[in-house]
Amino acid sequence: MLDTLLKTSPIADLMSKLAGLDQPGGDPRTKQIVQRIVGDLFQTIEEFDVTPAEFWSAVSYISEVGQTNEGGLLVAGLGFEHFLDLRFDEKERLAGLEGGTPRTIEGPLWIADAPLEKGSARLDQDPEPADVLLMHGQVRDVDGTPVPHAVVDVWHANTKGGYSFFDRSQSPWNLRRQIETDAEGKYKFRTILPAGYGVPPDGPTNKLLKALGRHGNRPAHIHFFVSAPGYRKLTTQINIAGDEYLHDDFAFATRDELIPGVTRNENPDAMRDAGLNSPFVEIEFDFALHHETDKVPDTVVIRAHAPAA
Ligand code: BEZ
Ligand code: FE
Repeated sequence: MLDTLLKTSPIADLMSKLAGLDQPGGDPRTKQIVQRIVGDLFQTIEEFDVTPAEFWSAVSYISEVGQTNEGGLLVAGLGFEHFLDLRFDEKERLAGLEGGTPRTIEGPLWIADAPLEKGSARLDQDPEPADVLLMHGQVRDVDGTPVPHAVVDVWHANTKGGYSFFDRSQSPWNLRRQIETDAEGKYKFRTILPAGYGVPPDGPTNKLLKALGRHGNRPAHIHFFVSAPGYRKLTTQINIAGDEYLHDDFAFATRDELIPGVTRNENPDAMRDAGLNSPFVEIEFDFALHHETDKVPDTVVIRAHAPAA
């Protein structure tokens, strides 16, 4: 049936008209892409003999994704966000860019304009029982030269996997800061060890993941944007070693180079120096940035973000 119906002239005519190809106005690229996507879906309907009930349930599903604002979760779970990273990686490889900290997905939970602090910051504002984490490192270029005054924008979940602003029980900006590196490119921050994120159990993303026999969990992780004038913006995360989902992230964001060692420090002198009276965990992680180049597309990605409200 596939070969016959889809190749008939009424369908070819329909495809051309629905994409506005017979109209002078509109945007040529949009027309081409719409024609391809709709054509591929027509083929899918034919190949799998999709019933009208299945089709209309898919339409309701798309509406539910919109109503619940889960688009950013769904595309991550279906691997699109990771696929965009792999495309960036390949373009950089073909242009001869080597080294640098690997990128990985931004996810949908960043909020613009977190409080900016110089050199060091404390991220945790809301008291909760948790391991204290001290993280520090240096921002350098790919040749090892420190990058002073780079901005390390960091955000992560609390011990329940929730993010401030999205989880209304947290205070605004909890576990979110921008830190400007010092004259030697160094940054440090105090925070709490996060737990992994899980998609809302009753939402449409989880509904589809369950139908695929999958789960909607991410390993514990900390997000970063690292930027400085003259350098390619880096979007990345580190994962917390030992997490049960470390190599089973529903959003496919784990990369081996992004799993730093986590050391537990029980030395009383170190605890006192850090202003603490209990053991803490430490992570050291350096970021390596590429210099700006016009050989590859800019890494600044324009996408809609939730407001700080
Ligand atoms: C996250 O980083 O927490 C995240 C990423 C993709 C989808 C949902 C959450
Ligand atoms: Fe996250």
